Amino acid sequence: MGRMEGKVALVTGGALGMGKAHSQLLAKEGAKVVVTDVKEKEGKAVVEGIKQAGGEATFLKHDVSKESEWKAVVDKAIGEFGKVDVLVNNAGILVLKNCKDTSVDEFDRVMNINVKGVFLGCKHILPAMQKAGGGSIVNISSIYGLIGAPGGVALAYQASKGAVRILTKSVAAEYAAYDIRANSIHPGLIATPMTSDITESAELNEMVLGPTILGRAGKPEEVANAILFLASDESSYVNGAEIVVDGGYTTM
Ligand SMILES: NC(=O)c1ccc[n+]([C@@H]2O[C@H](COP(=O)([O-])OP(=O)(O)OC[C@H]3O[C@@H](n4cnc5c(N)ncnc54)[C@H](O)[C@@H]3O)[C@@H](O)[C@H]2O)c1
Repeated sequence: MGRMEGKVALVTGGALGMGKAHSQLLAKEGAKVVVTDVKEKEGKAVVEGIKQAGGEATFLKHDVSKESEWKAVVDKAIGEFGKVDVLVNNAGILVLKNCKDTSVDEFDRVMNINVKGVFLGCKHILPAMQKAGGGSIVNISSIYGLIGAPGGVALAYQASKGAVRILTKSVAAEYAAYDIRANSIHPGLIATPMTSDITESAELNEMVLGPTILGRAGKPEEVANAILFLASDESSYVNGAEIVVDGGYTTM
């Protein structure tokens, strides 16, 4: 039996990077997966790959910053699979700018996707989970939701990921009585399309890898393993927690 047998999982931003790895692993472990993203072609390709590997999945085009789209996505997911047991709020964007250089538009954009998107996901999935008798929400924050970055290089991103950390604890406290858990994941530098600017720049790479005591960037699959734990019933006593997957970046 797979570790997610009988469960339905919805993964936002599932077309690329870590969301793709999370979708693939959850499906491999038996979950029916709803992959959502603004990128239709790439998202459909992920679903095709899951099906070819013997899993079950569907793609829905979805901008997480839009409330009307959240309503439609939750309705369609339940229409197709009957329920949603797991929500992975993974979609996010990064703007690598400090306070002085961040425009108000950039700040708003990051907040709309990274924070409002997570809030809307929780808000619209919780009634469905409550009806189904429980669930698990996994919100993707970052090490930069826990600590500062050298030179304040990602001001809006850090503000957004700090908000995701505490929003998660608030949801955990509100919904524990309904057997719905909410936890946050805090990855360090993971090699994905989002971080190609960092991994391809010697200076930025050194800045991030310097404090990473494992001395290398992580792979999306290494974060997916933590998602699988939080999504499954194996983490039944883990609630409101922040799980750091950072190769030791925040150790010292
Ligand atoms: N890569 C890292 O080092 C790292 C570290 C810490 C946290 N994170 C977080 O992990 C998550 C995934 O990051 P990644 O590195 O895989 O990024 P990525 O850019 O490789 O993939 C992000 C996905 O989100 C989608 N997306 C962007 N805006 C969206 C929107 N408005 N609605 C729906 N989908 C949208 C993109 O199309 C893309 O498929 C993000 O929340 C990111 O902030 C990444």
